[in-house]
Amino acid sequence: MKPGVAARSVAAGLVGRVVRGGAWSNLVVREVDLPPDDARLVRHLVYGTIRNLSRLDRAIGELSNRPLAAVHSDVLDVLRVAFHEVLFGRAAAHAVPDMAVESARSLGHSRATGFVNALVRNLQRGGEPNPPSDPAEEFSLPGWVMEDLTHAWGRDQALAFAEAAHEDAPVSFRMRPGGTPPPAAVPTPIPGAFIHPQGRVPDEAVVQDAASVAVVEALDVASGHSVLEVGAAPGGKTLAIWDRSPASLVAVDTHPRRIRQAARRLERAGGRGWWIRADGASLPFRSGQFDKVLVDAPCTGLGTLRRRPEVRLRVSIGDRDRLAVLQRRMLRQAIDAVRPGGRVVYSVCTLTRAETLGVVEDMGGRPPADLPGLRLDHGLLMGPHLTGTDGMFISVLDR
Ligand SMILES: C[S@@+](CC[C@H](N)C(=O)[O-])C[C@H]1O[C@@H](n2cnc3c(N)ncnc32)[C@H](O)[C@@H]1O
Repeated sequence: MKPGVAARSVAAGLVGRVVRGGAWSNLVVREVDLPPDDARLVRHLVYGTIRNLSRLDRAIGELSNRPLAAVHSDVLDVLRVAFHEVLFGRAAAHAVPDMAVESARSLGHSRATGFVNALVRNLQRGGEPNPPSDPAEEFSLPGWVMEDLTHAWGRDQALAFAEAAHEDAPVSFRMRPGGTPPPAAVPTPIPGAFIHPQGRVPDEAVVQDAASVAVVEALDVASGHSVLEVGAAPGGKTLAIWDRSPASLVAVDTHPRRIRQAARRLERAGGRGWWIRADGASLPFRSGQFDKVLVDAPCTGLGTLRRRPEVRLRVSIGDRDRLAVLQRRMLRQAIDAVRPGGRVVYSVCTLTRAETLGVVEDMGGRPPADLPGLRLDHGLLMGPHLTGTDGMFISVLDR
């Protein structure tokens, strides 16, 4: 196989698994068994292709003499990767059509090589046939997402978010108690959270976005507190809570496999918690049983687009509205479960209005103190455009 073809073929295969098979890009790229430079290239191609998917598909559709639905899915994925390379990539222009042709051949589609070659060369000759006319098209985001964010935060903020969410996320981590960050680590404004420019994570640290570290900071757990986390799997914040030495820690989720994995993860890290499978909208606890309750609610996840670009393909306006109803019910239950004088923190890794301000503004939420981000009357918004972190909305409700 010619140099570079294996990386393109693998990237096309992974794009197919993410787009049609429901896989997550951040997980599939870890499985790549190629030399490090090729593995990095595959990652770049997969993320870039998925980030720009609807824009690439529009261009392929314009240049193709048959409808996209009539193109074999493997061939379509090869074209998507090659179109991404032509429009946004780093490869030498003359190499792209040949590698796309070889990639189609290596996937068993020799009869499609003429079609692939013609489309890629046409794109190179004529440029993008239908350049984007608005930010939703430019960043391959669903129209409702841009409308929602513009309505919630204004046009400039929505655009700044879309741009920043189109970039790679840095490797960030949280130091565990007693650990010392390596000299090259760059501290973030969130206590305990660091970024490593070369992506190295020291042994006494856990990979965690600084916005997630901020959520636990806002909860302000001290030793002696009894703590409940609702929506706890896969357990990243549960471990961060444990590291603050609570007297007891109860973790609730609905998803059995994720609970098992999270419980094992906490145990391996030396933590202890009671894992309970329950619906956060109908909690099995006495009123006022806990000092601190974190509701880390299921959400549309738009704040994680840098790491999970396929979120743009998977969430709908219906999900937003359904989740907003669930989030309000979970928050009401959490408020009931905390003792007078205790604290509830509500967090979601998304930015839609319905799931953020829409949940907390009539329940007395306020922004946490001393954390960076856009301070609003009823919460704090963090994001790649604001804090260089994942998107996160955090609201504190003191009882
Ligand atoms: C944002 S994730 C939680 C992430 C986790 N706190 C962490 O830091 O690793 C939301 C979680 O809520 C759970 N969930 C969804 N519906 C729920 C419900 N009705 N009650 C409780 N948990 C729910 C999902 O299974 C998912 O694990």
